Amino acid sequence: MSDLYSDPMATAILAAEKIAELTGKVKHEVALVMGSGWMPATQALGKPTHEFAITDLPGFPAPTVAGHGGLFRSYEIDGANGKIHALVFLGRTHLYEGKGLEPVVHGVRTAVKAGCKVVVLTNACGGINREYQVGQPVLIRDHISMTATSPLIGADFVDLTDLYSKRIRELVKKEDPTLVEGVYIHWRGPAYETPAEINMMRIMGGDLVGMSTVPEAIAAHALGAEVLGISLVTNAAAGVTGEKLNHIEVMEAGKAAAGRMGELLAKVLKQL
Ligand code: HPA
Repeated sequence: MSDLYSDPMATAILAAEKIAELTGKVKHEVALVMGSGWMPATQALGKPTHEFAITDLPGFPAPTVAGHGGLFRSYEIDGANGKIHALVFLGRTHLYEGKGLEPVVHGVRTAVKAGCKVVVLTNACGGINREYQVGQPVLIRDHISMTATSPLIGADFVDLTDLYSKRIRELVKKEDPTLVEGVYIHWRGPAYETPAEINMMRIMGGDLVGMSTVPEAIAAHALGAEVLGISLVTNAAAGVTGEKLNHIEVMEAGKAAAGRMGELLAKVLKQL
């Protein structure tokens, strides 16, 4: 029996085998990781064929943040080129939980081992760019990691030039030409940023700031999957409006934008 920390890839393979056993589907093609507030958006995907607790799979810790799910679902969606089997993770493990990076990227590694060639990562974030409105989805064009850590260990010199697939971003923008793109900054948290840190991030070229997505994007890309990242701006980042930041409001903003997000995801999935 392998263990997540001693052999993360072997554990991901075991988890993928368990998914196949539980769902009766040999392969899934697309994975979606739903961030804070994104859960209601899954309604637009229709009824899942299966739903299980994430802890039914090897290597997944129980979720520790209120509103962060802890379930995975399997969907069968009518796509432009036949049936698409989609794996949806409701909730994720974050770096700030202090469990290390292995549990943070275990979901996407499992998804790739389950056959997924495309990984869609969604999140809630603060808007650094003053043009962004609360409730606005933004496609991640690129990122800046400020956590000084990586899910990759050893001489794994992966190229990240096209980390957030240009091909898929173009597909999504065809569906919704009003979507803009931005640079996401990964902040470890759990404390939100200070206004001075947000100013620094803006000068560095950041548009969005959040506490997820980047390690998962790197881990999925390193295994050969194409990555799409979509951020939902749930609040203006610290110091932008002078308002204080609050987790409950972040979650509420996600719920309010769920309809638009769900429709967008459903349309995108059909194209993949
Ligand atoms: N900062 C970091 N993470 C976040 C924010 C923020 O302002 N909003 C939602 N997640």
